[in-house]
Amino acid sequence: MIYAQILAGGKGTRMGNVPMPKQFLLLADKPILIHTIEKFTLESRFDAILVVCPADWVSHTEDIIKKYITDERVHVVIGGADRNETLMSGINYIQDHYGIQDDDVVVTHDAVRPFITQRIINDNIVAVLENKAVDTVVPAIDTIVRGTNDQVTDIPVRSEMYQGQTPQSFHIKTLIDSYNALSSEQKASLSDSCKICSLAGQKVSLVRGENYNFKITTPFDLRVASALVEKRS
Ligand code: CTP
Repeated sequence: MIYAQILAGGKGTRMGNVPMPKQFLLLADKPILIHTIEKFTLESRFDAILVVCPADWVSHTEDIIKKYITDERVHVVIGGADRNETLMSGINYIQDHYGIQDDDVVVTHDAVRPFITQRIINDNIVAVLENKAVDTVVPAIDTIVRGTNDQVTDIPVRSEMYQGQTPQSFHIKTLIDSYNALSSEQKASLSDSCKICSLAGQKVSLVRGENYNFKITTPFDLRVASALVEKRS
């Protein structure tokens, strides 16, 4: 089975003073989350599309999905305290509702990257069916500087640097084994899901993203996203 998992369990604190987690804010005529779900419903190879949201927002999420989406593959799941816990909540849902087979894979995507393209989704599906873990990246535009305590410690060669986006896609059994192999300190310090696999020694392949596939994090990003949507309509 090929699953999609849309990670919508965050609070969006960097968006500042807004009445709801940013994934529920309107982008033109509908919530950001709905734009993202729609992109996934266009892909017929997904057997189920899980939308993993905060516990307090389950009924709101179900209401907006009912209003805008008719695809019966979409299911709402309760997320976790951090992004990887949300990811693993979705995996537990798959385990409980469908069971996990040897060749099952999942394409996971940030709810707040509504400009994902069908090409990126397709490339993730193709790559994850051949590899155990896949990351979507774009080449770094700015030079990346490593530093601590106001001191530069390293300036890596820019041509070897990428910025991570999503989807991140996984062979599900490999993801579960990799996650279970981590210590609780490692689990707590992880800010990236592909790192679950790389820390466990798994190779992670790269798929090309798009600058367009940016994450709406701050009020500035929301303004850029709104301008892009208005320009298209
Ligand atoms: N996410 C999630 N579960 C969490 C935290 C984050 O599913 N416990 C999701 C967010 O909903 C978002 C994606 O992961 O779609 C990327 O998260 P990010 O924007 O970095 O984090 P937020 O917690 O949403 O925002 P902030 O860090 O500003 O609070």
